[in-house]
Amino acid sequence: MSTSTIPVRVVTLNIRYATKKPVPGEESWTVRCPKLCAQLAFIASSHSSVFICLQEVLHTQLTDIQARLGPSWAHIGRGRKDGEEAGEFSPIFFRIESWGCERNETYWLSKTPDVPSKGWDAALERIVTMGLFCRRKTQTAAIIMSTHLDHKGQTAREESAHLLVKLARNWTESWAGDLKPPLFLGGDFNSTPDGKAYKALTMPGSGMEDMSNLVPINLRYGNQEITYTSFGEPNEEPKRIDFLFVRGSNGLKFLTFGILPNRFDDMIYLSDHRPVVVDVEIPVGAANIS
Ligand SMILES: *[C@@H]1O[C@H](CO)[C@@H](O)[C@H](O)[C@H]1NC(C)=O
Ligand SMILES: *[C@@H]1O[C@H](CO)[C@@H](O)[C@H](O)[C@H]1NC(C)=O
Repeated sequence: MSTSTIPVRVVTLNIRYATKKPVPGEESWTVRCPKLCAQLAFIASSHSSVFICLQEVLHTQLTDIQARLGPSWAHIGRGRKDGEEAGEFSPIFFRIESWGCERNETYWLSKTPDVPSKGWDAALERIVTMGLFCRRKTQTAAIIMSTHLDHKGQTAREESAHLLVKLARNWTESWAGDLKPPLFLGGDFNSTPDGKAYKALTMPGSGMEDMSNLVPINLRYGNQEITYTSFGEPNEEPKRIDFLFVRGSNGLKFLTFGILPNRFDDMIYLSDHRPVVVDVEIPVGAANIS
């Protein structure tokens, strides 16, 4: 087996849906869009293997982001309301010249994952977008997942976490070769590390690990704890609810982990969440592709 590696960057960001009624401190999507897309382009620049997991993306926002990233990018994912264009998406953006998407699905986080549905005590339909990607010409594969767990239903969050673990295992084990592709899961889990969803995701046997724990502290960049800032509303508590998990960390090399800013000198919030980024090297030929 080759010992060469491919650097992969995985990003997760809840972009905040384009509301018609912004809260105090929130600018409209028209104002946020160019700034947020410039940040995504900056994060992705000079990385050919970047997977951007987004949440709260309405269809109009999806087309805006696709247009601004440009034709070298594509995305996967369906709207959570009807499986088409209605409701928020949890899409995954990727560079088409570097990676091909071999398989993609959107599942509902409920007892009926194949059809639009609400799960358990969830207030809203919740989804996960999954893609199996193959690096062109190098016999290397990776599975990416993007999700957003319910903000109200505690049972829904915990059950959804179990379902995510199951789907991750299923997709990995469905891979025919002995060498299983690494899997990366990014999202807004509406759960802090003390929450049941986080615990379900990281419990022994889940196969999942929080990638922030795999990068030594002195290699972590930016903000350390807070991923959700809010727009500064007085009734909102800043907290850590956005995470990047990995399944199959053996043989991977974790380089950096960063929680980036969501506002700059002009003090305009790009979103009420911050982008979370990990850099990891995966071995070439991490999967046998026919
Ligand atoms: C995702 O899968 C659908 C079929 O379910 C297919 O039509 C679409 O082209 C796929 N997207 C990509 C980017 O491969
Ligand atoms: C994955 O799920 C599909 C559909 O539910 C099932 O047919 C298949 O056997 C599962 N594969 C594994 C490896 O668990």
